[in-house]
Amino acid sequence: MPTQSFRAANAIPNPLVAEPIVTESGNGVRRVERRTVDRGVEFRLVESAPDRAVRSTDNRQSRHVAEFAADVRASLTIPGQRELPSKYLYDELGSALFEAICVLPEYGVTRADARLLQRYANEIVNRLPSPIQVAELGSGSGKKTRWILEALAKRQRTYYYPIEISASALAACEKEMGQIDLVSVVGYEKTYLDGLRAVATRRDSQDHLLVLFLGSTIGNFDREAGNAFLREVRKQLRPGDALLLGTDLVKDVDTQLLAYDDPAGVTSAFDLNILARINRELGGNFDLYQFKHEARWNAQERRIEMHLRSLREKTVTIREAQLTITLRAGETIWTESSHKYHSDDVFEMAQGAGFTCTQQWIDQEWPFAQNLLVAE
Ligand code: TRP
Repeated sequence: MPTQSFRAANAIPNPLVAEPIVTESGNGVRRVERRTVDRGVEFRLVESAPDRAVRSTDNRQSRHVAEFAADVRASLTIPGQRELPSKYLYDELGSALFEAICVLPEYGVTRADARLLQRYANEIVNRLPSPIQVAELGSGSGKKTRWILEALAKRQRTYYYPIEISASALAACEKEMGQIDLVSVVGYEKTYLDGLRAVATRRDSQDHLLVLFLGSTIGNFDREAGNAFLREVRKQLRPGDALLLGTDLVKDVDTQLLAYDDPAGVTSAFDLNILARINRELGGNFDLYQFKHEARWNAQERRIEMHLRSLREKTVTIREAQLTITLRAGETIWTESSHKYHSDDVFEMAQGAGFTCTQQWIDQEWPFAQNLLVAE
């Protein structure tokens, strides 16, 4: 009981017992710190105890496990081609591995994205209405967003709302971007649309909104789902608001395949980590050594498909999902797709979702487009 520990602390015979400093960390632990000085030496007494918040954290945790388990169960039992939802790639380790992918020589997407933002930040910002707040869908560490925020902060104090499901990526982003002059950061640990809804509700009637959806994450949706997603984003916006959309463009097949299957195996580790995460969080028993990461080019759909191939016949049990499945030798689990675009595609996608694509900036080194979509 925390109250008893307080008394014990007070009972230490010392004339300089300071007021307790009480902090509550996010994981529901209450930390009580007392600093006392005795003959010139500082003593610190720190006690931690779970507090009331623990119950709601437990609930949140078990809700997360239940949802993760249900998603895994549903996707692994799809008849024909088993799948896993790609959003579960991004736990703390997955996010760190993705940051490593972004600096791989074979993966040109992030550098092209960043080059365009760095080179054209002022030009992009000059086309935006004022005052304007910024929301970013899947900020990651937010590194390349710096250019846009700095350009905007030259003309106004700027509110930046990174929306991110990875708590570790969000914390890194808040720390980094919070240091830019005249930029205030409020992070949302939510899925894209939940986060965007929260941001849209919060803003004043005169504020415009710029939504950033960078890194060609749109390509991780199937085409129809991508269009539907853009329509959902549009619903949260007012005419004149903007969406800056990054799209990776179709390029030669070998270059594309290498970008999703690098020889050092970073992408493979990133992909396999989803099985490791199921083992850790859901009590699964995938043997990661028995799976091989594979990237394929689907010419008809114009997308890279990422699979995990089971090298042998294997029965896997996932305790929390109450699931036992047998994978055939050579059977794959489909974890992610990355659609590629022609530059004209974007104008059509924009139109279909209630936007006008008013400008497109294309990187010459690694064909990739930054597209400015204005809400009609
Ligand atoms: N949005 C990134 C992309 O499609 C995500 C990504 C890069 C990815 N490499 C990956 C997802 C490998 C799964 C596996 O380009």
